[in-house]
Amino acid sequence: MKIFLDTANLESIKKYNDMGLVDGITTNPTLLSREKENPAQIMREIVRIVKGPVSLEVVGTTYDSMMEEAHRLKKYGKNVVVKIPMLPDGMRAVKKLKEEGIETNVTLVFSANQAVIAAKAGASYVSPFIGRLDDAGQDGMTLVREIVQIFSNYKFTTNVLVASVRHPMHVIEAGKIGAHVVTLPPDILGKMMAHPLTDKGLASFLADWEKVKKENPNLSF
Ligand code: E4P
Repeated sequence: MKIFLDTANLESIKKYNDMGLVDGITTNPTLLSREKENPAQIMREIVRIVKGPVSLEVVGTTYDSMMEEAHRLKKYGKNVVVKIPMLPDGMRAVKKLKEEGIETNVTLVFSANQAVIAAKAGASYVSPFIGRLDDAGQDGMTLVREIVQIFSNYKFTTNVLVASVRHPMHVIEAGKIGAHVVTLPPDILGKMMAHPLTDKGLASFLADWEKVKKENPNLSF
């Protein structure tokens, strides 16, 4: 399972990239709006820091505007994946971009039918937003299960990228289902690393070692 970070925060990206945990990045206009720096500068910097795929989203909603933005965003780096909203014009753009050798990530997917459409159009990634479905009283993980099964039945090569992840259990469930990628807000990656028994165990190892040092003042190893 690949782990992408769902953020435009450069500090978090550097922190987790240095641990070797970042296979890629997803951003969106809301995530960019939360940062102080200029969005174009942030996007350039992310593409420079992270070696894996970086999804940068278009804000146009017509075929022409999406194509024009896609070409501009692609110039930021080879690893740019153009994020296109699930719209009829968007699917036209996905098809054309695929013909041009440009990878796409179809975003704002809330049904298995939308995922099938995106895959047929030629998307490299399809992003079901599971947390938002959970918020609306539906089961987001059921959608992931349906998409993974349909893609596997027909050997679709489009990657299922689980988005709008809200907690570590979403990651475990997505992994059990066999989703290709999960994209996580940085705090969830932090939570995946932590366990109270790890903290407790380390505190007691260190306390016991202090006793050993007291009993053996000249201890060296
Ligand atoms: C995915 O690519 C999106 O950026 C993201 O996961 C949206 O999640 P949200 O529902 O937390 O805004």
